[in-house]
Amino acid sequence: MTETEVPGGTGFVTERGSFKAAHVAEQNVDRQAFILDQMAARPAVRSLKSWALDQLAPTAGETAVDVGSGTGEDVVALHELGARAIGVEPSPGLRAEAVRRAAGADVEYVDGHAEALPFEDESVDVLRSERVLQHVDDPAVVVQEMTRVLRPGGRIALIDTDWGTAIIHPADPDVLQRMVDYFLRESANPYSGRQLRGLLADAGLEITGETAATWLEPQAGARQGFVGMMHLTSLQAGVITPEEAEAFAKTLGEAADRGAFHMSLTMHAVSAIKPRAV
Ligand SMILES: C[S@@+](CC[C@H](N)C(=O)[O-])C[C@H]1O[C@@H](n2cnc3c(N)ncnc32)[C@H](O)[C@@H]1O
Repeated sequence: MTETEVPGGTGFVTERGSFKAAHVAEQNVDRQAFILDQMAARPAVRSLKSWALDQLAPTAGETAVDVGSGTGEDVVALHELGARAIGVEPSPGLRAEAVRRAAGADVEYVDGHAEALPFEDESVDVLRSERVLQHVDDPAVVVQEMTRVLRPGGRIALIDTDWGTAIIHPADPDVLQRMVDYFLRESANPYSGRQLRGLLADAGLEITGETAATWLEPQAGARQGFVGMMHLTSLQAGVITPEEAEAFAKTLGEAADRGAFHMSLTMHAVSAIKPRAV
């Protein structure tokens, strides 16, 4: 598949900040759902979702919340274990898509932001949030808010990418560094993965587990998705020249043709419990 086949068209190529809550109104929901589906299919993401669910182990009658629930898959998974499952999601389009995908399952998707969750103090038994903190300006505020709504003894699991772990090969090191620096600058919180443990500990929570998974991009990824768009986005931003953009794409494409392209990115997951006396 090429970028032009992405739902919503070639805007995907130059889209920036597409999952930031402040940009929700401008987004093409089909394109967002497409990107989320691509991510959710990756083995690293599957293994971390499964790990988090095992850590949280919601039981019948418990209230389980997914903050930044996107297309809602993880809310349905919490529900299937017997919990009263609620997704908090600021995008009306993604909430509607989540309702459609839930196909009548007894789940709720509510409007809200991680910075001001629509729940009473200590009213939530289980809380998860995945690939959301990288899009927020102040993750400490968000984790404090999550801690507020969690009941004493409640469980939490956070999953996020650390964009500082991205490796792309082969590429001109200087050109690649300028592109990477640009993407890191543009992201609200690119080093989220490495911060999860400290955020939970600093909020007074007791860490119960941590793990990581590295996503390895298939050879086709040299020409599509994040890598396929980055030289075009960087060119548009003026951090590389047209000649550098063309050489970048050509080098990666030729490498993929002989099976020599490498792109990897590490994602982290941490679980914790709210002590009975925080
Ligand atoms: C990369 S997506 C991940 C979606 C989902 N958690 C998953 O694993 O597929 C980030 C999600 O967080 C939502 N989001 C962004 N900023 C948010 C905020 N401040 N509060 C709540 N959700 C937010 C976006 O609308 C989007 O659905």
